[in-house]
Formats: sequence, structure tokens, C-alpha cells
Amino acid sequence: MTLTPKSGVLDIEAYVPGRSQAAGAAKTFKLSSNESPFGPSAEAIKAYRGAEAVLGIYPEGTARILREAIAAHFGLAADRIVCGNGSDEILTLLANCYLRQGEEALFAAHSFSLYKIATLANSGIPVEIPAPELRFDVDIAVAKLTPKTRLVYIANPNNPTANYVSAAELRRLHQALPDGCILVIDAAYSEYVRRNDFEAGIELVSGSQNVVMTRTFSKIYGLAGIRVGWAYCPKAVADALNRVRAPFNVNIAAQKAAVAALADRAHVEMSLRHNEIWRARLIDEIRAAGYRVDDSVANFVLIHFPDQPGRTSLDADRFLMSRGIIMRGCGSYGLPQCLRLTVGSETANLAAIAALRDFAAVK
Ligand SMILES: Cc1ncc(COP(=O)(O)O)c(C=O)c1O
Repeated sequence: MTLTPKSGVLDIEAYVPGRSQAAGAAKTFKLSSNESPFGPSAEAIKAYRGAEAVLGIYPEGTARILREAIAAHFGLAADRIVCGNGSDEILTLLANCYLRQGEEALFAAHSFSLYKIATLANSGIPVEIPAPELRFDVDIAVAKLTPKTRLVYIANPNNPTANYVSAAELRRLHQALPDGCILVIDAAYSEYVRRNDFEAGIELVSGSQNVVMTRTFSKIYGLAGIRVGWAYCPKAVADALNRVRAPFNVNIAAQKAAVAALADRAHVEMSLRHNEIWRARLIDEIRAAGYRVDDSVANFVLIHFPDQPGRTSLDADRFLMSRGIIMRGCGSYGLPQCLRLTVGSETANLAAIAALRDFAAVK
């Protein structure tokens, strides 16, 4: 008997997560998955523990308490919010709902690998556009739109390049979309951006019928382990996603923790301040050590290594791992010459800077 998956499935290169262990190092610093160095707020942990009493009971099926908390926090309509088991789930559900065999999903090179996975899993055609100077180029995207384009995924800010597309450019992209195409703004890192010309996407969703914004509790809220994300959608899209998602896709402990995390603004502000200070310092110090580092608006930085024996990203990674510094190799993002470094705790950041300096000094 031969079991054959749908066309596209076997073309998928399985997602490569950030590594979490460095064999042999006495102390390790996991700076490979853009998690918060602070983890969740104490209030979120308390709320998570408070779920003990209801562990035996199915949660309310629409994540109502979380949708209502998000709606109140951001001033949105709760019935246009869909929660997911991480924003990963929602990004995938969008393809499950809207992409038919042979239809196209467009995204930029060097962006989050899930877009391609979700496309191929639905027998869709991935249209990966070039990213000159590692930036999403709206003109190139517009030129590649066809009547078959159903989804345009854009990570804003982008992982792993740490740059962003301005609100005006996003609007320009939106205006060029063909009929029946959804613009998916993946705003997983939006909380970290402090730029006047940036918008996470709420206004664009509110003012149109074909834009979805996804957000996550995995980054600034420090809840990556319990998997909570959400989308703000047009009503009709929320309706479609709600038909397709698993009935109890966000567990009760995750819902409670996320509600509490949202309310603890002091924790978020503290994480943000730390990120601003250390992102700038990491960039300055790593550049001063002789590396090319791109500007960043997120909670990570992209470091480039030369194609020179002994100096490559693989050589650097080996050296860094021996010192317990776990960064993210970017081969799966089409950037094998780069390592991505998450802004960590002060101790971790100082250890990363010292290790990079020492690697630069190796003869
Ligand atoms: C750009 C981007 N979008 C989405 C996600 C997924 O986040 P979640 O933990 O909510 O599934 C990530 C995770 O690293 C990401 O980098």
C-alpha cells in the first residue's frame, strides 16, 4: 500500500527551531528563538497556576475571556478576534481557509519560514520574491501579484532581518491587491518598534475587508511556552477561521495567563526599556568588534560573517557554542552567512559580546 500526501507536502522542508542546548558548555545562554529574557509577568504565572481547579473541564470554545481582554486593551471588536495556539496556527489556518490547489501565496525571501510551509501544505504555489538589501520591496511584490494570488504574507518587522515596512508602503501594497487576495500582516514583533512611520496593522484591518493582522504572546509577553497568538480580522474572515480551527484550540491555562499578561503593563514597559537599551548597545559593541550588523527595530539583531575560512558563520557558531552562546543559524532563511542574536538578559548580552570579541581576535 502506498500512502501519498497531498501535492506539496513532501516539498516542505520541516521548520527548524532555534537550538536550546550547547553540549559541553558549563553555562548556556539561549539566544536563538527571540524569547523574552524576563519570561512572563508574575501576574501571568499566578493566573496560570489559578487554572489548576479547571484542568478537568473543556475551556470555553472561542477563547472568549482572552478575546474580550484583547478587545478592551486595543479598542477592537471581540467578534473580529480569533485566538490560536500561537500565531503560527492562525497563519496556517489562513492558508487552510483561502488557498486552493494551484493558487499563489506571496512572501519575501529571508522571511518567516512558516509562510512557505502553510502554502505547500495546501498544495498552493509559493511565490518567494527577492528582497534587495534584505528589505521587503513593495514594487517587486506588486509586480508579482496575479489573479491567482490569494495571500500576501508580510512579517512586519521581519524575522530574521529585523527591519520593517512603513505604514504608507503597506497601504500601497494593499491598494494593489487583486480581487480575492488577503494581506496578512504578521506583527509578532510590533510591540518592539518605536518608529513614527510604523503601524502594526490595526487601522488597515479596520478600514478594509481583506487585511488580517496576527499578533503573539510569545515575544514581549514572554509566554512562548504556552502558545498563544491572535488575529484581528474582517468579520467574514473571523467566521471562516472559526469554522476551521480546532474547537478548543487555546487551552484554559494559556487563556488565563495571557489575560493577566496583557493587564500587566509595567512588565511590558520594563521589557521594552531593556530591549531598547540592549539592542542599541549590542549593535554598537558588535559593530565595534568588527562585524557587520544590520539596524534592528525588533528584539534581535542579524550579524553577517565573511565567506573566509575560519571566519564564517559556521566557524563563529562553533566558537560561540563552546562558550555556551546559542544563536540562530540562518541557513533555513536563505542567509547561511548570518547568525541571529536575540536580545537577552544583561549577563547573556555581555557574554555574547565578549565571545564575539574573542572570536574576532582568534588568529
Ligand atoms: C515573524 C514571526 N511570526 C510568527 C511567529 C510565531 O509566533 P508564535 O509563537 O505566536 O506562534 C514567529 C516566531 O518566532 C515569528 O518570528
